[in-house]
Amino acid sequence: MAILEALNWRYAVREFSNTKLSDDVIAELVEATRLSPSAYGLQPYKLIVIKSPEIKALLLPYAMGQKKVGDCSHLFVLTVNTRIDAKFIEQHFAHVEYERGLAAGTLAGFEQHVKEVMLSLSTEQLHQWAENQVHIALGNLLTAAAIKGVDACPMAGFENQGFDEVLGLAEKQLRTSVICALGERAKTDASAGQRKVRLPVSDFSVEI
Ligand SMILES: Cc1cc2nc3c(=O)[nH]c(=O)nc-3n(C[C@H](O)[C@H](O)[C@H](O)COP(=O)(O)O)c2cc1C
Repeated sequence: MAILEALNWRYAVREFSNTKLSDDVIAELVEATRLSPSAYGLQPYKLIVIKSPEIKALLLPYAMGQKKVGDCSHLFVLTVNTRIDAKFIEQHFAHVEYERGLAAGTLAGFEQHVKEVMLSLSTEQLHQWAENQVHIALGNLLTAAAIKGVDACPMAGFENQGFDEVLGLAEKQLRTSVICALGERAKTDASAGQRKVRLPVSDFSVEI
């Protein structure tokens, strides 16, 4: 689908059919999410793709009554790193140097700068920063899904702590940020026919 057609076609699905997405489609959506940009390229997040009906059922009690967590084809759980420290930054730069065939230490000056900026932030600021980054990935996921004609619903309405416990995230130094149900809209989804409501362009953007 062309970009504006796709963005008008998509909506936050409230009720999913029981159609399952193929592994190929899921792999492409994972890749679109992985290719998201992030500040300094640090990618302070990880994606958990839940296909298992059993795990979705375990998460359902923490979904604030949102049945679609259980009914969707796949649930993407976007998590943020809770340990963003010197080691995390060093690992990132070692990875960049390796991938680009650079000698170890080539990027030491930039690495030092990133450490100074990032490590001056409080834990709360680091968390907020990671949240900002992962929401860019969510946006890419939603757009990629729309272009492929895959239905989705981004969700913040769930209990993070319950999700973290079910998924055993604390020991992986991760925390649930936002989730996204994927699949196919049910024919009975009442939200499907609703007019899309956004600010008029004249209120939304200014050209100066
Ligand atoms: C970060 C985020 C969290 C959201 N959380 C929920 C949610 O918990 N449940 C839900 O049904 N929709 C949720 N939505 C969907 C929004 O309500 C929806 O995108 C918005 O009303 C615009 O409508 P549209 O996406 O259908 O065009 C969320 C959207 C975003 C971006």
